[in-house]
Amino acid sequence: MFDLIVRQARLLGKHELQDIACSNGCIVDVRPRIEAEAVEAVEARGYLVSPGFVDSHFHMDATLSLGRPRLNRSGTLLEGIALWNELKPELTLESLRDRALQCCRMAVARGTLHIRSHVDVCDERLLAVQALLEVRREMAPYLDLQLVAFPQDGYLRSPGARANLLRALDMGVDVVGGIPHFERTMADGAASVRELCELAAARGLRVDMHCDESDDPLSRHVETLVAEICRLGLQGRAAGSHLTSMHSMDNYYVSKLLPLMAEAQLHAVANPLINITLQGRHDSYPRRRGMTRVPELLEAGVNVAFGHDCIMDPWYSLGSYDMLDVAHMGLHVAQMTGLEQMRECFAMVTTRGARVLGLDGYGLEPGCFADMVLLQARGPIDALRLRPARLAVIRRGRVIASTPEVRPRLLLHGERELDLTSDVYERREKN
Ligand code: FE2
Repeated sequence: MFDLIVRQARLLGKHELQDIACSNGCIVDVRPRIEAEAVEAVEARGYLVSPGFVDSHFHMDATLSLGRPRLNRSGTLLEGIALWNELKPELTLESLRDRALQCCRMAVARGTLHIRSHVDVCDERLLAVQALLEVRREMAPYLDLQLVAFPQDGYLRSPGARANLLRALDMGVDVVGGIPHFERTMADGAASVRELCELAAARGLRVDMHCDESDDPLSRHVETLVAEICRLGLQGRAAGSHLTSMHSMDNYYVSKLLPLMAEAQLHAVANPLINITLQGRHDSYPRRRGMTRVPELLEAGVNVAFGHDCIMDPWYSLGSYDMLDVAHMGLHVAQMTGLEQMRECFAMVTTRGARVLGLDGYGLEPGCFADMVLLQARGPIDALRLRPARLAVIRRGRVIASTPEVRPRLLLHGERELDLTSDVYERREKN
């Protein structure tokens, strides 16, 4: 007797439909047909089951604050930072907690079960840190929330940031953050990267820096980051977030940089919804897209993931915590329309994101945690195309959210329901 069986699911890499049996919060068996009873059964009926979505880059302290104290009139990154600084003194523990919890609920409803959120530590009170640690605890049965100590106003530039970041880590924040391109000088940026990586190495923590979120092709802090990773033995444990200056860099320099990033096993996190709207703002035409070089990074052997970054906050007015929206935008911006490339875009919000966070037990094999989402789609590319209903969201073997199947009803020549799904991408190619 299992706790849960998901029946006749389409799984990535498997041609036949599969049953997934779960007990004690884990997947215990995956086979085409499992003849056994279960306390709860979910009928997948040939729809796609994926491991839960992973958001590798988010700001949970600012989310859902849109309009407070005012709207971002220019829509730019710098007005966003100014606006956040106007809001910071007014923040309360309760409002931070309420907004973050609401955001987590949105994430769960959309099948996102693992989030890495940066939390600003440039506030003496560290209210956001306190609030998000509480939210992490409260939401633990439903999603994994990993926190990054993020010195938004500069680790060296902002008085007190250094001490606050250490306090935040002492309080239980998981990852060391940074923002080298926002320090006063290139030299300070490099010094901040060195100091923060040393701190992470000394404490056995991972690193995730906002790195070169700029259109300046000479913003090259990623170079220092990968050098420090190699010097301190942090390979595979550090992420560079945004990396938008790479969009504008000289191609010859990038040909040197890519192998260095691969050597350091740096994870690169692009945030397509935000990069496409915030970068290139000083351009007339042609106007740069600003997103980092995703296909080239993948080609060089660098792990790349997509993050949502913002939802209804000083930097971005839209968003509903749908990681398929993020991957859909990333696919278009990076022009990743090849078949394998589209599948990679799905991986960047699932398995590749899990590698950024260093998640254990992620996946749909026996032994993994029973965390998954049933999508009203016939495969990953179909899911990207439709951004369909999340029919069931499962966490540790229990259904924690559901959305009814969407079937538009047409009243043309008589009544009929329309099935929008397609399995064309999943058909085996003839030799
Ligand atoms: Fe960010």
